[in-house]
Amino acid sequence: MNKFIVTGGNRLDGEITVQGAKNSVLPILVATLLVNGESVIHNCPCLSDVDATIRILEYLGCMVTREGHTITVDSSTINRYDVPDNLMREMRSSIVFLGGIMGRMGKAVLSTPGGCEIGLRPIDLHLSSMEQFGANITTENGCLVCSSDGKGLQGTRIILSFPSVGATENIILSAVLAKGTTIISNAAREPEINDLADFLNKCGARIYGAGESTITIEGVSALKPCEHSIIPDRIVVATYMIATMMTGGKICIKDIVPSHIGPIIQPLRDAGCIISVSGRNVMAAAPNHLKRIRMIRTMPHPGFPTDVQAQMMALTTIADGTSVFVENIFESRYKHVGELLRFGSKISVEGRMAVVEGVKSLNGAKVKATDLRGGSAMILAGLCAEGKTEITEIHHIDRGYDEPEKVLSILGADIKRVNKDE
Ligand code: UD1
Repeated sequence: MNKFIVTGGNRLDGEITVQGAKNSVLPILVATLLVNGESVIHNCPCLSDVDATIRILEYLGCMVTREGHTITVDSSTINRYDVPDNLMREMRSSIVFLGGIMGRMGKAVLSTPGGCEIGLRPIDLHLSSMEQFGANITTENGCLVCSSDGKGLQGTRIILSFPSVGATENIILSAVLAKGTTIISNAAREPEINDLADFLNKCGARIYGAGESTITIEGVSALKPCEHSIIPDRIVVATYMIATMMTGGKICIKDIVPSHIGPIIQPLRDAGCIISVSGRNVMAAAPNHLKRIRMIRTMPHPGFPTDVQAQMMALTTIADGTSVFVENIFESRYKHVGELLRFGSKISVEGRMAVVEGVKSLNGAKVKATDLRGGSAMILAGLCAEGKTEITEIHHIDRGYDEPEKVLSILGADIKRVNKDE
């Protein structure tokens, strides 16, 4: 087991580019199941969640090759429609295979995904949508057995009670090869939905309105192979911007999509950071003293992303004054708070609300990554803390960050990955 050793105090400064988006690459790799031929996907980050997705694709019979950041999937050899429990459990978002396998095979057998470290992840919206396409769903021995009984999926109108990202993706995956037209109301509007639709449309799908609340999908009979490049990861952009701001530094991140980080720019400006966007680059410079951020409410896109809540909380622990967080997306996404307290921060949690009273400085600590984004918040706290920080259970961080120690070292951080027993 590896751990990170961070020695705080270095001011981050420099220019970087970021990896492709985890939350895009996963559904797009699943979408290659719908293509009868070879899909070539560029800008794929090296992440354990990507490895897990590839293992499932290979289990299903696809031929997958990887060269650097390019993954090629030939799904013409697919010969199974089940995903065993051990593979389902490797990746939290494996439920998106439901739409991919159903869309391609008309039946799917998946074990029910368990809860996870940021709360239960119910799949009721995924299942009720699948039923609206005319599929039958039963559970046998803890497995979901889903079938269109040889009739194929039928386009339908689906009104989501909540704009779930995964459910929207599953509906799109089910609809592209379904008979007739599907209309999704209250669809998720995250940029990763657009990326999925862009990939599928290049393959010949007819998806209109991705990125808006209403998405229309006209079913087509087949998809042709294409090449696609994954969008830059907006959550990773936010993480490195916040890291730099916490150390009093300045950063230029190149080749991003500025509109994707709109929701995090205003809170950073509220904290006193100077942020400017020029073309596809963003520049951020820290103020002398970070100011409190009065209120952060996580919301579906284009609201403030829940995936940046932990990192922004790390920033407010050293800001002047009191900041308040309301977590509206996941019910127990404050596991990092207990670890942040070890640095000497002052945070109290009451239900979905967390109140952070800024302190002058943090002290290095022995902490663990409680989950992916909570884990990245430990790195950020360690970078600005006095002394040494040791972070264990970093496999959580490796699910979403491609070699963060290398990227942060380019910016001047003192962070090393070491074997836990060393
Ligand atoms: C995706 C992202 C994750 C991000 C989240 C919210 C991926 C791989 N993961 O997760 O990083 O934090 O969006 O932006 O893209 N819900 C239900 N019933 C359902 C489905 C969801 O009640 O059937 C609830 C969930 O419990 C949660 C909320 O809806 O409270 C949001 O979940 P959802 O948007 O589905 O998130 P994911 O797709 O799992």
